[in-house]
Amino acid sequence: MTVKLTWYGHAGWKIDTAKSTLLIDPFLSGNPVAPVTPDQVKPDYILVSHGHGDHLGDTVNIAKRAGATVLSNFEIAKYCEGQGCKVHPLHIGGSHEFPFGRLKLTIAHHGSSFPDGRYAGNPAGFILTLGKIKIYDAADTGLFYDMKLIGEEGIDIALLPIGDNFTMGPDDAVRAAKLIKPKVLIPMHYNTFDLISQDPKSFASRVKRAVPKTKVVVLKPGESFVV
Ligand code: NI
Ligand code: MN
Repeated sequence: MTVKLTWYGHAGWKIDTAKSTLLIDPFLSGNPVAPVTPDQVKPDYILVSHGHGDHLGDTVNIAKRAGATVLSNFEIAKYCEGQGCKVHPLHIGGSHEFPFGRLKLTIAHHGSSFPDGRYAGNPAGFILTLGKIKIYDAADTGLFYDMKLIGEEGIDIALLPIGDNFTMGPDDAVRAAKLIKPKVLIPMHYNTFDLISQDPKSFASRVKRAVPKTKVVVLKPGESFVV
């Protein structure tokens, strides 16, 4: 099965599989680097890592228009259901087999509240098993040693934040790469705003020295990686 990942800038992704189109953290309106607008996407599922506006983003509007199902923790799923979305709640450590493959929620060390300040449960990362391809989206998080356990699952593609300030910066993302040892690492959550500006090329050369078997793929918003 071919899997196509398209970066929508920041932590936003579109993943096309044989059966379904997934969006992750669709922060499109208000995102200065988003290559598409919310009305240009038509997902079957939307995965939401946590409640912050730069991740929940346009989820409710897109889900209602496209008839997509929101996959997130219990608190965010219930919130979206209350807004009229189809949902499937999960929680950290839990996984479920969907038509596109298996989704598991992982820990992420961060905060999570809705833009109006309401509690949004604990933030999460994702492990997606799509056919033989395993993708780990760390979402917003600091470095944590249990990334080693995630690496034990055999990660083909890791999506890691490198922006610093709100999440891991490049130093800790290099250490994360050592723990996870993914075949491919794609950096994200940088260069959306000045506060999180980073040089992904210098990050890539540092990973190459620290974890020679990991290939860093640097995308521009709108570009895709096919595996
Ligand atoms: Ni956040
Ligand atoms: Mn964020």
